[in-house]
Amino acid sequence: MDPCQSWGAMALLCLLVPGGHPDPCRVSISPEEPAVEFGTSLLFNCTSSCRNYTRLSWEVSVTKIEEQGPGWVTLSIPNVTDWRLELHCFGIFGERRDIATTTLHAYRFSPPRIYQEGDTVAGRETHVTCNASAQASPPDPPNLRLTLWGEGLSPSTRQGPSVTSAFTVQPEQHGREVTCEAVLRLGRRRMVNASATATLWV
Ligand SMILES: *[C@@H]1O[C@H](CO)[C@@H](O)[C@H](O)[C@H]1NC(C)=O
Ligand SMILES: *[C@@H]1O[C@H](CO)[C@@H](O)[C@H](O)[C@H]1NC(C)=O
Ligand SMILES: *[C@@H]1O[C@H](CO)[C@@H](O)[C@H](O)[C@H]1NC(C)=O
Ligand SMILES: *[C@@H]1O[C@H](CO)[C@@H](O)[C@H](O)[C@H]1NC(C)=O
Ligand SMILES: *[C@@H]1O[C@H](CO)[C@@H](O)[C@H](O)[C@H]1NC(C)=O
Repeated sequence: MDPCQSWGAMALLCLLVPGGHPDPCRVSISPEEPAVEFGTSLLFNCTSSCRNYTRLSWEVSVTKIEEQGPGWVTLSIPNVTDWRLELHCFGIFGERRDIATTTLHAYRFSPPRIYQEGDTVAGRETHVTCNASAQASPPDPPNLRLTLWGEGLSPSTRQGPSVTSAFTVQPEQHGREVTCEAVLRLGRRRMVNASATATLWV
């Protein structure tokens, strides 16, 4: 039962509170939190919960390549060349319209690489560095975090593009593994990660 018709006081409340009346017809976009590599392609699908719309379409600042079916309309972006792109899909249902919005994030990401530097003589200090790089929509710099760890190494985490861990060379460390993980955050929730592993040579 519609809660707005079930009770007098409730009905009044529903009239007073904007959006209080549950709207039967909604549009939604998938994927919800899009993020792709710069220069790649992406297909969006906007669906309507009702079929009685007079129009279901995209509103975007790029050339539209749409395809329609019953209750849906897709948007194809063959080459994402905006770091950040707002996309709107709207449906017109009689007097009403519903809009769904999403932000597409593009990124460039080169996965981490581990370098061992300095002396490899027992008792001397040496260090391991992990580098990764990323590019994403402003604000710059990109939200890239690197974590480097391994047996006999104190784990260290830093904002990219580089993290270094120093340690005193011990012969038994030869052949041990070190790992570096890079996590790039895009927008509020999306993240892209990659990791690398290397073997110590002492
Ligand atoms: C879009 O989504 C609808 C509903 O899930 C589905 O029926 C339709 O096949 C999808 N269209 C494409 C091109 O994937
Ligand atoms: C995408 O656009 C960029 C810049 O306009 C261009 O350099 C690149 O070749 C395009 N890639 C594809 C796959 O069309
Ligand atoms: C469209 O259909 C929904 C439910 O299927 C209904 O609640 C709504 O009033 C209809 N809208 C129009 C404009 O016909
Ligand atoms: C790793 O990144 C740091 C900081 O950007 C740079 O100084 C260093 O040369 C890089 N190391 C290698 C091996 O690329
Ligand atoms: C990315 O992170 C997820 C969750 O933390 C993890 O399960 C996955 O193995 C990571 N991928 C890489 C390539 O590190």
